[in-house]
Formats: sequence, structure tokens, C-alpha cells
Amino acid sequence: MKTDFLVIGSGIAGLTYAIKMAERFPDQEVLVVTKTIADETNTKYAQGGIAAVWDELEDNFNKHIDDTLVAGDGLCDPHVVDIVVREGPDRVREIIEWGARFDRDADGDYALGMEGGHSASRILHYKDLTGSEMERALISMIRTKSNIRVISHCFVVDLITQHHAGYLVTKSTPDITCYGVYVLNLHTGKMEQIRARAVMLATGGNGQVYRTTTNPPIATGDGVAMVYRAKGRIENMEFIQFHPTALYQPGHKGHAFLITEAVRGDGGILRNNLGEAFMEKYDPRKDLAPRDIVARAIDNEMKRNGTECVWLDCTHMDREKFLHHFPSIHEKCLSLGIDPLQDLIPVAPAAHYSCGGIKTDESGQSSIHRLFAAGECASTGLHGANRLASNSLLEAMVFAHRCFLAVSERFGEKETEPGSLTFPEWDAAGTTAPKEMILITQSLKELQALMTDYVGIVRSDTRLERASRRLDLLHEETERLYEQTIVSPQLCELRNMITVSFLVVKSAQFRKESRGLHYNTDHPAKSGLVQNIVL
Ligand code: FAD
Ligand code: SIN
Repeated sequence: MKTDFLVIGSGIAGLTYAIKMAERFPDQEVLVVTKTIADETNTKYAQGGIAAVWDELEDNFNKHIDDTLVAGDGLCDPHVVDIVVREGPDRVREIIEWGARFDRDADGDYALGMEGGHSASRILHYKDLTGSEMERALISMIRTKSNIRVISHCFVVDLITQHHAGYLVTKSTPDITCYGVYVLNLHTGKMEQIRARAVMLATGGNGQVYRTTTNPPIATGDGVAMVYRAKGRIENMEFIQFHPTALYQPGHKGHAFLITEAVRGDGGILRNNLGEAFMEKYDPRKDLAPRDIVARAIDNEMKRNGTECVWLDCTHMDREKFLHHFPSIHEKCLSLGIDPLQDLIPVAPAAHYSCGGIKTDESGQSSIHRLFAAGECASTGLHGANRLASNSLLEAMVFAHRCFLAVSERFGEKETEPGSLTFPEWDAAGTTAPKEMILITQSLKELQALMTDYVGIVRSDTRLERASRRLDLLHEETERLYEQTIVSPQLCELRNMITVSFLVVKSAQFRKESRGLHYNTDHPAKSGLVQNIVL
């Protein structure tokens, strides 16, 4: 299969880019592939909203820049922060023009929410369903473009790349070129090649490597693993953000339901089993301290008191306002017999967001020629060691736009077609259908257990060393299985999650300090050496 512009992923980053490319090149094709159905993405589950400087009387760019830098704990790229904060409001206006709705106050102005680490109210939101509303608007927009083709149930397995021996490796002239991807077409069960002039990776996050996560099952880090296999650069993978308040539901199967930070923004208070509002012991910003601080405080309270959760107290909040702002949280809690305005909501931290990923420059170009990345799979330099709440939808849109500008300029014209190279068909010789799915499902459980127990909110040298040794074994067994077995999404995802876990552990081992989201009890202080870990 051949197309002009290939997009992998149908979340906010992939669809924003696709719409812009399709509008700019109406005579060319934009092909979006996605591994399940189009709207099954992390984007759909975003609750709190999107951060942007909107009310220029109460807020300004410098405040948003400072908040992002403070949360990032010394590792943000200040130039990238400046870009995202200043370009953000224009991208928000664009998605409003495309039909996304955000809540308004009684005067008809956009209602701006408050979240942890922000010094002003700047979170545009649609109830507690912001992501679902944005995804809806993007999908409706896609449907109006006759030159966008979306193929669902199309699993991208690997990049098709050529390595040019002898090239000088610099930022602007990568020595690897991407020509397309190998996909498993789940409609036909066949492996196919898709070739394109430029490939955009928008494959999202990797929360599924942990036992408890807010991320849906698609979040298995496929894009990062593919780029690493192709020898592209991956950055800062140790910075996994745990959201402090996922709904605690013992025995629940599937991803954890989020209780948005906006609930604390509207006055919700965290309490331990003794009823103490414990956050004041940890940070003067109390319940609205940045996420790393709140998640570690909760972890500490749970360990100290021997409980599996803490509680979010909303009983003092106004019922009308709560119902208006958080209808889905209200409904979910009621379905479990919890009335959030009368009862405390049990919550515990859950893996939520990957701050690191595929290293890109300011245009979204990865270290591989003709390969771009945006959204959660990318490491642009915005988040540093810890992402500020509600900055990721913003980053995804700003960088999707920047990828659009760069791809249009560099590869927009048909003449920029790479040479007509041929690449080998997928070699499935000697492989057979999987005989025992337990070999995959049990390895996945082991992986999630070791990442949760040894590479969670608090780490130590010994735990990381243990994780590394156990990962080696899982890697060896899974690679053997992969060589012998017909490709399936389950096996590919396991393989990708092992690679991602390896990258998290290795980066964590290299970082001999505690900074942002990475806390190691053997190196509790921040080092004077401020560096990104690139693998
Ligand atoms: P996604 O939206 O995750 O899309 C990834 C796409 O890639 C999917 O279509 C998937 O099918 C596809 N894909 C992946 N691998 C393959 C493959 N191998 N082959 C083919 N397709 C593939 N951020 C905020 O800024 N504000 C919030 O309020 C907020 N709330 C959140 C709440 C929850 C519960 C969660 C989970 C996240 C939240 N986030 C929030 C984070 C934010 O939603 C995500 O970071 C963002 O939506 C990621 O968008 P994306 O386009 O990069 O990826
Ligand atoms: C939330 O609504 O609490 C999540 C916001 C985010 O992840 O940015």
C-alpha cells in the first residue's frame, strides 16, 4: 500500500495533524491507521481539561511558563516551554472552530478551572469529559475530509527503515530514514507494507506496563518501542507520572477510573484513615501541589498507616456545582454506592502519563529522517521531570501543528518522494499459530507486577537491579516466542511493553539522583548535574 502522508494513531495528536495536512494538500491522501477503533485513545478519557492562558487580566504567558518550569524540576527545555505556552491559545481557538465545546460561566465567558501546580485558573474544560468532547469534534472533522482515509484495526508492528552507513550523525542529518511501516491488518490477518513520504507517530502512552493505570488497553508504548528497535533516540523514560487520585476499586479489572485533579481544584480535600487532611504536612500548596508531591505523599500515608487507599472529601462542596462540573464522576461513584457529596471517595495513585518518549526537535522531527512524532509518545522538552497538569493535550496540539508545518515544507510536494527502494516482504517462515496464550498473558502479569513493585513511585538501586534481571528473562523468553509464532497484537504489545519497561529501568538506573517524578531512596537528593537521559 502506498500513501502520501501516513499517520499512526487517532488521538488528539494524530487527528489534529491529519486534518491540517488534508486541508493543505487536498489532492493528496492522508492515511490514518489505528490499532482498534478510531476513538479508543487516551485522549477520549481526558477529564480535567486543557491548560491555556485565556483570561489575560488574571493570567499571562510568563505565569504559565513559570508553572511549567517549576513542575519540570530543572529539566524542561525553556525554549520549548515558551513555544507551547505562547502558541497554545491559537491551537485551542482552532479546535473550538472545528466544533469542540468548552463550558462557559453565567456571563458566557469560558469557565476556567484550577489544577495542581497552576498559579492561575486556566483550564478550559467540558464538564469532566473534556477528552471525549475533543475527540468527538476531531472525528467529526475528519469525516468531512474526503482525502483522509482511516483504517481501524490496523496494528503497526515495525518501521521500515534504511540505515545509511557513513553519514555524519547530526541533529539535522539523521543517518536513518523511515520509508513506511509494516502493519498487521486485523481485517485480513495479513502483514502488509504501507509506504509514505513522511510518517507521523502519534501512538500515545504506555501506562499498561503497570498493574494499575488510568490508561486504556491501547497504551502499550508501541511507537517508542518501534523507534528504539530502529535505533532512533528515546529520552527521559524514567519520568512516569502517577496520578494521585484514581478511584480505588479492589478487584476491578480494566483501567482505573480517574477522579480528576479539578475536583481538588474546586475544593476537594485528601484525608487519611484517621480523617487527617494530610497534605498540609507535605507542601504549603496542600492538595494543589504538583502531582509528584501529592502522589508521593499519598504513597507515604498509605504505607505508614497500612491502608490501600486514602480518601477524597467533597462533602463540603456545593451539590449543584459538583453535578454540573463532574457528572461522570458523580454517576460512577453512585454506581458503586458512593454519594460523593455525602461519602468520602476512596482513591489511590495509578500510572498515568509518560513524560519521556521519542526525542524530537522543535518541529517534531525525530532522530530518524522522514519520521515525526507528537503527543504522549514524544519527548519534546516541554515536561522535563514532571508534567504540569493539563499541559499534555496542549502539547499534542501545538506539536501536531509544528509537524504539519515541517512536513508540508519538507515533504509536501510529490517530487520529494524517496527513491523507489524495495524492502523485503515480512518473513513469517517457520512461524506457527500460538499454541498457548498463557505464555503471553502470564508474562504480561509478571511484567506489570515487577514494574509496579520495583519501578513505581518510590525506587531504590536494589529494586531497579531486580527489575532489570527479571526483565532480561522476560525479554529472552518473549523474543524466542516472537521468532517462532505468527505475529499477533497481543504478542507484539507484550514485546513492546518489555522494551518500554527496559527503557524506564535503564534510564532510572542512569539517573543517580531524585528529581521530579523519579525518586530513588539511595539517591534522595537532586544532583548538580542537570541532564536528560537519552538511550
Ligand atoms: P492517544 O490519544 O492515546 O492516541 C494513541 C493512538 O495511537 C490510538 O489511536 C491508538 O490506537 C494508536 N496506536 C497505538 N499503538 C498503535 C499501533 N501499534 N498501531 C496502530 N495504532 C496504534 N491530559 C491533559 O492535558 N488534560 C487532561 O485532563 C488529561 N486527563 C487525562 C485523563 C486520563 C484518564 C488519561 C488516561 C490521560 C489524561 N491526560 C490528560 C493525558 C492525555 O489525555 C494524553 O496524554 C493525550 O490524550 C495523548 O494523546 P495522543 O494523541 O498522544 O495519544
Ligand atoms: C486530571 O483531570 O486530573 C488529569 C489531568 C492531566 O492528566 O493533565
